[in-house]
Amino acid sequence: MGIYLDHSATTYVDKKVLAKMTQCYSETFGNTSSQHSYGRDAEKGVGAARAQVADAIGASPGEIYFTSGGTESDNWAIKGVAKFARKGHIITTGIEHRAVLDTCKYLEAKGFSITYLPVDAFGAVRADDVEKALQDDTILISIMFANNEVGTINPMAQIGQIAKKHGVLFHTDAVQAVGHVPIDVSAIGIDLLSLSAHKFYGPKGVGALYIKNGTNIEKIIHGGSHEKGMRAGTLNSPGIVGLGAAISLATEVMDNEFVKEAALAKRLKDALLQLPKAKYNGHPDDRLPGNVNISFDGIEAEALMLHLDLEGIAVSTGSACSSGSTNPSYVLKEMGCTIEQARAAVRFTIGRCNTTKDIDTAAKKTKSIVEKLRALSPLFADKGEKNV
Ligand SMILES: Cc1ncc(COP(=O)(O)O)c(C=O)c1O
Repeated sequence: MGIYLDHSATTYVDKKVLAKMTQCYSETFGNTSSQHSYGRDAEKGVGAARAQVADAIGASPGEIYFTSGGTESDNWAIKGVAKFARKGHIITTGIEHRAVLDTCKYLEAKGFSITYLPVDAFGAVRADDVEKALQDDTILISIMFANNEVGTINPMAQIGQIAKKHGVLFHTDAVQAVGHVPIDVSAIGIDLLSLSAHKFYGPKGVGALYIKNGTNIEKIIHGGSHEKGMRAGTLNSPGIVGLGAAISLATEVMDNEFVKEAALAKRLKDALLQLPKAKYNGHPDDRLPGNVNISFDGIEAEALMLHLDLEGIAVSTGSACSSGSTNPSYVLKEMGCTIEQARAAVRFTIGRCNTTKDIDTAAKKTKSIVEKLRALSPLFADKGEKNV
């Protein structure tokens, strides 16, 4: 087995979660809309999962709507609020996931106005900027909880207060944060929250949107009367049961996992920053525990990633969704990195299965590959400068 350090792209399904899903596929497999006992049994599983998701984020079960994942939840939150309001202004940031950015671009083309806020050098939005961007016709603030590339966590409580003070709806794409850091939607003042099971050891293709009771939002998928008539389509009950099991397991182990991942991330970071001209990207403290993002001056991250892959070590360049493209990360560019620094950035994301040995092996291999690539690079001359 290789060493998997790409947990922000996706995670494996935890065995305990899989056991619950298997039972649901072969035993409690009924359609939740059916009136007979098979349907009722399936509905019981879905109801329990709804309570598990609600519990994990401080919501009530009636405020949880199941979806096909983070992308659908983001689309629903933003388009749903826009459709209800019919016109208006939306505030977001330039470092959102494409699921948010492209949805905003779509709405912009339909006549909505959008403010894309800048971020600081660590990748965090400033709460002051959010307040300053508000207009009389602002209908929504959509700001991610934690960034998928650099792991930086935004000042959510401050933004929540601003949204509340001005009576504007607040959506957060919390796909990378849920299951990894504590979240309480009512304490923060969140009206809409997107989450996705495959980022916390649950199955792919299932997620949820938290919609605070009383929120003005329209549906975007029409058909049957599922999910209180708000999201049509036969429920993916095994996936939903898996989502519920995964979120409650993640909540149970969160504190220990946070400490363990943060320690491993520090170990990896310290080892890699021994290389000259290595730039640590993202916030030093306010970040997801398992994220280490470093630009190695003078190399192409793509080449480093492929060499590590040959050694059985999986890392990523940028996020999973944009790593197929050769464009340098827009997130790092927004943070003020040069194009060269953005092209040289590698993301290591540590997870539940990783050990100290994994980290030491990954650090050793990375260092030797970076040195080899730099030796071949006419662009790189080590002048012994301090790390930045
Ligand atoms: C921040 C963020 N939002 C949304 C998504 C999309 O989620 P899904 O893969 O469940 O559609 C991702 C997935 O990488 C993500 O990292």
